[in-house]
Amino acid sequence: MFFGNMRMLGEKEVFGKVKGSVWTEGVALKKFSRLVGEVNADVAVIGAGMAGILTAYKLMKDGKNVVIVEANRVMSGQSEKTTAKITIQHGVIYNKLIEKVSKAEAMQYAKVNMEAVEEYESIVRKEEIDCDFIRCPSYLYARVHEGDEEATKADHETLIKEAEAAKQLGIKSELMTSINLPISVTGALRFDDQAQFHPMKFVKPLVDQLTIYEHSRVMELKEDRVVTEHGSVIAKDIVVACHYPFMIKKGFYFLRMHQERSYVLAVKNAGTVDGVYYGVDKNDISVRSCGEYLLLGGERHRTGENREGGAYERLRNIAKEWYPNCEEVRRWSAQDCMSLDSIPYIGRLLAGENNLYVATGFCRWGMTSSMVAAIIIRNHIMSDFNPYAEVFSPQRFNLKASVKNLAEDSMEAVTGLTKGIFAPNKCTHLGCELVYNPDEDVYECPCHGSRFDCHGEVLDGPAIRPATIKKDES
Ligand code: FES
Repeated sequence: MFFGNMRMLGEKEVFGKVKGSVWTEGVALKKFSRLVGEVNADVAVIGAGMAGILTAYKLMKDGKNVVIVEANRVMSGQSEKTTAKITIQHGVIYNKLIEKVSKAEAMQYAKVNMEAVEEYESIVRKEEIDCDFIRCPSYLYARVHEGDEEATKADHETLIKEAEAAKQLGIKSELMTSINLPISVTGALRFDDQAQFHPMKFVKPLVDQLTIYEHSRVMELKEDRVVTEHGSVIAKDIVVACHYPFMIKKGFYFLRMHQERSYVLAVKNAGTVDGVYYGVDKNDISVRSCGEYLLLGGERHRTGENREGGAYERLRNIAKEWYPNCEEVRRWSAQDCMSLDSIPYIGRLLAGENNLYVATGFCRWGMTSSMVAAIIIRNHIMSDFNPYAEVFSPQRFNLKASVKNLAEDSMEAVTGLTKGIFAPNKCTHLGCELVYNPDEDVYECPCHGSRFDCHGEVLDGPAIRPATIKKDES
């Protein structure tokens, strides 16, 4: 079987301290004013991240008058923190979907994601966007766990099952025995014709064509009215694409999603890789090249569960072990909404409310899922044939695929709410205890993932109101 060469710990360990993603380097997006007063539109989109921008762009091309409202700045949320892989290979997914949902739906999932990859390429061509878009392979690897034969065997079996699932679905793929990473693997599953790009360069010309209001946080939805702090948009159709829906009672999304964080280092002097890499194991490292940098991502945890810190340090140690001469140039972290069954919630936000749509629960695959959302929601609003609507419908409930996560999320919420009764720092969403994350100097809610800076300002929803933070001086 395998193996790549494991490199030894090196002598050169020079690490910088630049915080923030590589995508903001040298790309300035147009600035937009705050929404003041009332405006009318065919479609109001909440959130100027990749999902909101793509949905608005597609509808605008179909002749709709679209207005986007954004709480902060365009692309300043998770879209700026992505590793920007565009792929149908979403970790270990297809075997799970076949076993716990259905083969037909797994096939639809793969098909629309492939359509999303192609649609990115088509927009790049049509708009002549210079955004480092390249087609490349995507690899899912199974690592050798030194000294742990059982874990090695289990990961390898998972890989083989995923390869069989891909074959059943007709996905063009190949099992490899070695990969271009300095680790020992038992094998890797390669999907060809996937892609990677620079998300900021990609959206720049799209953003220039759209009507956007920045610094306009939505506080309320009232029938056809999107109410921000200083104004409102009146629209026939409304799309909620703000990562985690902020409304509490509409759709009860807080009962069906939690959030997770992960950390990324951009390093130089580490060479390049020939595609995008992701591991079978939860603790594996994702890798892609970005110009002269290599992006290494990992250290996933449920938001609110990093009391001890050390995530960046552990990632640095791996970077040093893999690439002894590497030099850190940037670091950042990202937040992902995790649905119960690993399929995003895209479509009608509530059964019976035909003008209200949602795109959320992208489960770490934000770039590809953003395009999937744009395809599906565009078809809904334009009343076009929508073959993927059912698979992604927010009203579905795949019992077998959801039951474990539902139990875990419910337990976490009960614990967080109970602790919140006496906690000095409470989340303004539903009152759970906030937990300090020393890696980021922020306060995080384990229940549904809201985050606040040390002054209590909201960094990530679903919370929309600031919290009162009492710092622990001990
Ligand atoms: Fe829901 Fe904090 S995010 S209680």
